[in-house]
Amino acid sequence: MKPPRAFFQPLAIGAPAPYAALPVRTERMIHFVPPHMEKVRAKVPQLISQVDVVLGNLEDAIPADAKEAARAGFVQMGQENDFGDTGLWVRINCLNSPWVLDDLMTIVPALKDKLDVIMLPKVEGAWDIHYLDQLLAQLEARAGVTKPILIHAILETAQGVKNVEEIAAASPRMQGMSLGPADLAASRGMKTTRVGGGHPGYKVLADADPASPDAPRAAYQQDLWHYTLARMVDACQTYGLKAFYGPFGDFSDTAACEAQFRNAFLMGCAGAWTLHPTQIDIAKRVFSPDADEVAFAKRILEAMPDGTGAVMIDGKMQDDATWKQAKVIVDLARQVAA
Ligand code: GLV
Ligand code: MG
Repeated sequence: MKPPRAFFQPLAIGAPAPYAALPVRTERMIHFVPPHMEKVRAKVPQLISQVDVVLGNLEDAIPADAKEAARAGFVQMGQENDFGDTGLWVRINCLNSPWVLDDLMTIVPALKDKLDVIMLPKVEGAWDIHYLDQLLAQLEARAGVTKPILIHAILETAQGVKNVEEIAAASPRMQGMSLGPADLAASRGMKTTRVGGGHPGYKVLADADPASPDAPRAAYQQDLWHYTLARMVDACQTYGLKAFYGPFGDFSDTAACEAQFRNAFLMGCAGAWTLHPTQIDIAKRVFSPDADEVAFAKRILEAMPDGTGAVMIDGKMQDDATWKQAKVIVDLARQVAA
């Protein structure tokens, strides 16, 4: 019998992304679950109705002696549940780990078309994506998978950041990218022990008042992740991918989590990771456009039906460029409401 044709001619760089033909998904949060825990698996049916994406985590945070149980648990939760429009993703172990080959060889044939996206950690360059792309083509062809399995890269090493554009362009399978602040901090030699968010020591001091040079000066905390997020968003938008902020580890600080997510949203990200149930509503709120913003954006579109020219609305100038910004917001609102 003739083997089924692989979805992708590997490395068809520049070809239209096949995933463009797939339905546009709302992916405001990628919700992480540890699949080796039975009590967590039992909650998956309930979770499916609450989140946009359920991700089975096999990599960091899963102890070495639970890797096989996590892999088996993920297959079980994938087979037992109907995910409907909710995405089913997996974070596999990194490519130089002893577990990754078994992760792929087990999961692809077991879940076939149910699996939407593979999240690949610690991506350093295009070669990592090329390797996974080829391996997936082989596994899909062998298992008779009929829907392309997409790749999501975690940007979490200094070298990965250096190569972000080539990673984004590496394969038509690329769905998107997430910033991984914890591994990135280690890789860069940053002096922190946190999973995302700010640091009270990373700040600038306001100028001293010459009249009272010894008076306490205001200090403004800076965003540690701005540079990387901006590079990642530009690379993703250039190649038609989605950008995501990754994890926020201080579950007790919901205000700081919301601020970090909002920065990502305003900068162009589609969503963020949620590691704790309290973060789900935060992501839903932040990554859905605000009703007042949508109403204002609609006024811009209505005032400039063909998208050209200049008008004043509430004392502010609007033109072709703000029309495009307004369209981004209105389109997202429609997609979220659909
Ligand atoms: C995520 O994997 C991170 O390292 O932040
Ligand atoms: Mg990491």
